[in-house]
Amino acid sequence: MNDAAYQKCINPSCNATYGIDEVLTGCKKCKSLLDIAYDWNRLPVPKSMGFFEHRWNTKGLHSTGALDFSGVWRFRELMPFYRTEADIVTIGEGRTILQQADLLAKNIGMQAGSLYLQYEGLNPSGSFKDNGMTAAFTHARMVGATKVACASTGNTSASLAMYASLSGFKGLVFIGSGKISIGKLSQALDYGGITLQIQGDFDDCLRRIRQIAADPKNGIYLMNSVNPFRLEGQKSIMYRILEARSWEPPDWVIVPGGNLGNCSAFGKAFMELKELGLINRIPRLAIINASGANTLNELVTRRGLCWNGGNYDRQAVESIYAAMDESHYRPHTIASAIEISRPVNLPKALRALDVMNGVVREVTDEEILEARAKVARWGFGCEPASAATVAGLQKLMAEQIISPGESVVCILTGHELKDPNATV
Ligand code: F0G
Repeated sequence: MNDAAYQKCINPSCNATYGIDEVLTGCKKCKSLLDIAYDWNRLPVPKSMGFFEHRWNTKGLHSTGALDFSGVWRFRELMPFYRTEADIVTIGEGRTILQQADLLAKNIGMQAGSLYLQYEGLNPSGSFKDNGMTAAFTHARMVGATKVACASTGNTSASLAMYASLSGFKGLVFIGSGKISIGKLSQALDYGGITLQIQGDFDDCLRRIRQIAADPKNGIYLMNSVNPFRLEGQKSIMYRILEARSWEPPDWVIVPGGNLGNCSAFGKAFMELKELGLINRIPRLAIINASGANTLNELVTRRGLCWNGGNYDRQAVESIYAAMDESHYRPHTIASAIEISRPVNLPKALRALDVMNGVVREVTDEEILEARAKVARWGFGCEPASAATVAGLQKLMAEQIISPGESVVCILTGHELKDPNATV
């Protein structure tokens, strides 16, 4: 199956392609990000999304229906990069819930039946990261990797350590000292990840681990979201939302923005569904930054940066980073998961905003905490970064960009118990 899948540079003036078995975190020619691309004509593509419904009749993870049990691999025809089904590493991820949140809707002035919360914290390791890890571990197994690594604000490391332990890899995680909630740190330790705290923040950790993984001598497979296979799995969050809404797209999807992998995956999901004729309308996207880590909002909303067919203003990005260096800027927010000032997936996020007619906003820590309390009071709860979505929704309603009767899905990326300190 996999010779119809390949890796492709997202820069339209480069368009280099690479085989599916190469381990890359960027284009060898122009250093841009890579996509997983498919020659759909040579693949068995379902005629409608309803095709996936028959997969609900499964016996569970340890039956022959293990792939159907996974809320990611149930949609495997839409991420067919694996060679055979035996390559797939799954622990039963992606069985998450879309809740119609009428009590919360009422509190924030939306109409009943308009607001939905997608609880990705219900994944095995407690965050949306499992959707991506299952895909990246599948690729790691395909290429014979044995050691995997990531930099993390806590959830990626928890997920990596869990998958590594359950599927026989050695897991290594880099975290910034004092920059991670205790719940997440305890997970990496519990699952047996080799956990290194380094002086600095997430951006420093990622820079360091990318250097280490770039040296083939180290034999380390990188699991951060620059790995395009991870994002293939994260597309499934959108498929499940469509499924829970009888394949009717919502008007809006709202997601927190950190390293910008998730929003990028959502944009790719809808780009492909449209191309395949499987949906007729694409929802709008809102990406919400924390004010203390607002690079995307600064660039897009204040300085007008846009995808521009791939020819986005690279100078504007370089100059914001140069100014950060000069002033020794450090991001800071209570939403530690998204305390990131140099989001590596920025170009893909610009593309997602283009595809989904999106907007970006930022919200303060106070707004995040207030929204988090509301999700806990009138929902299943979530960690602070996830609540940025609800705070962002309130902002977009106040600006009359979202109206009370539009259908809105907020992606709650992490479980409430990830960061109980924030509540207590
Ligand atoms: N929400 C939560 C709970 C997260 O853990 C993250 C990212 C995000 C949102 C942002 O997602 O990076 O795709 O824009 N956490 C990463 C980590 C960085 O290391 O756990 P993004």
